Amino acid sequence: MLVLTALLGSGGVIFAAADTSLQTLRKQYLRSAHIPYPPDDPYSQAKFTLGRSLFFDPILSGSKIRSCSTCHNPALSWADGERHALGEKELPLRTPTLLNVAWTPKLGWDGHFRDLESVATGPITSPDNMNLPLADLIRRLAAIPGYVRAFAAAFGRGDITEQKIEQALATFERSITSSEAPFDRWIAGNEAAISAAAKRGFILFNGRANCAACHSGWTFTDASFHDIGVAVDDDIGRGQLFPTSVKLRYAFKTPTLRDVARRGPYMHNGSVATLEEVIALYDRGGIDRPSRDEQIRPLNLSQSEKSDLLAFLQTLNGTPKDFAVPVLPR
Ligand code: HEC
Ligand code: HEC
Repeated sequence: MLVLTALLGSGGVIFAAADTSLQTLRKQYLRSAHIPYPPDDPYSQAKFTLGRSLFFDPILSGSKIRSCSTCHNPALSWADGERHALGEKELPLRTPTLLNVAWTPKLGWDGHFRDLESVATGPITSPDNMNLPLADLIRRLAAIPGYVRAFAAAFGRGDITEQKIEQALATFERSITSSEAPFDRWIAGNEAAISAAAKRGFILFNGRANCAACHSGWTFTDASFHDIGVAVDDDIGRGQLFPTSVKLRYAFKTPTLRDVARRGPYMHNGSVATLEEVIALYDRGGIDRPSRDEQIRPLNLSQSEKSDLLAFLQTLNGTPKDFAVPVLPR
């Protein structure tokens, strides 16, 4: 922490003498180029294409009006901009982004899904979400020649099964990655890519504000679970799965900060409207209770430190990718 504070001169100019340690720190944020596909569900172009069709197709919902992309909308950074997800009913949770899910080991805000494959049919069959029994979905798909061909291309001969649907959707979802942001251009050596305020914010993020303790690495998440002081009452998050753990009570998954400035409102329950309010929450030190993470404590940031942190968070917005919604098999 001390070393990092010393990196900053007046006016946010970074002293040349301290360049080496800043370079070392920057290297921790180099983007990973290779998408990890699991051995039991390897990538294939045919599986990807089928998965993409399924993801955008409203026939996956009972009412035929809702697809995965209704909530995980590519134009809204693969989320929906809503406080709570709106399925057949209003759900108690905010829709998380799917950016970089290939690198997320446990899925869901409380981590109850063990892999991407096992998430896929949950939203489809849930009466509160897409509300379509699996048997009905398989019947619908089998009646569409374009899908019969697409399943055959991806999996060879045989019936359409739950497992094939899950594998195709997961293969497509693993391709959803964040795009290059001004921060990445700075990491790659372009000093002009981000402002002096954002550079000071980066140092705070890794230093006195302690954000990198959990929002670590190029995806800006440790993929782990913490109580930072958002949930109250019986909304106990991962504590539901580990009822005897003190620390997992009120713990939710650390979200990625890629594209974060485009993706409010924030937190698992959409309860924090702006990034300014998020920073204020950390500045207060969350809620002092037994489950509070050891890394969360009052920060006493000055007004200019808060705006530096905000300036840094804004450099994580990637260049929007043109995403053409596919022509659906019929
Ligand atoms: C009504 C909005 C809605 C629809 C439709 C929807 N989702 Fe989600 N999605 C959510 C919400 C809310 C969560 C958080 C669930 C939880 O934490 O238990 C979520 C979580 C996920 C996650 C876990 C992400 C993470 O980082 O943990 C994946 C993957 C996912 N959805 C994929 C899909 C797929 C595939 C479909 C279509 C079959 C789909 N979703 C349809 C709202 C939606
Ligand atoms: C102890 C781990 C931890 C630390 C330290 C931490 N965070 Fe978080 N962060 C989380 C968790 C967990 C959540 C989600 C909490 C929830 O939804 O209930 C979160 C949520 C967020 C969000 C909302 C993202 C979204 O999509 O909802 C932002 C922005 C954020 N943190 C920024 C920061 C900043 C800035 C700092 C430093 C001042 C910081 N975090 C420090 C774990 C941490």
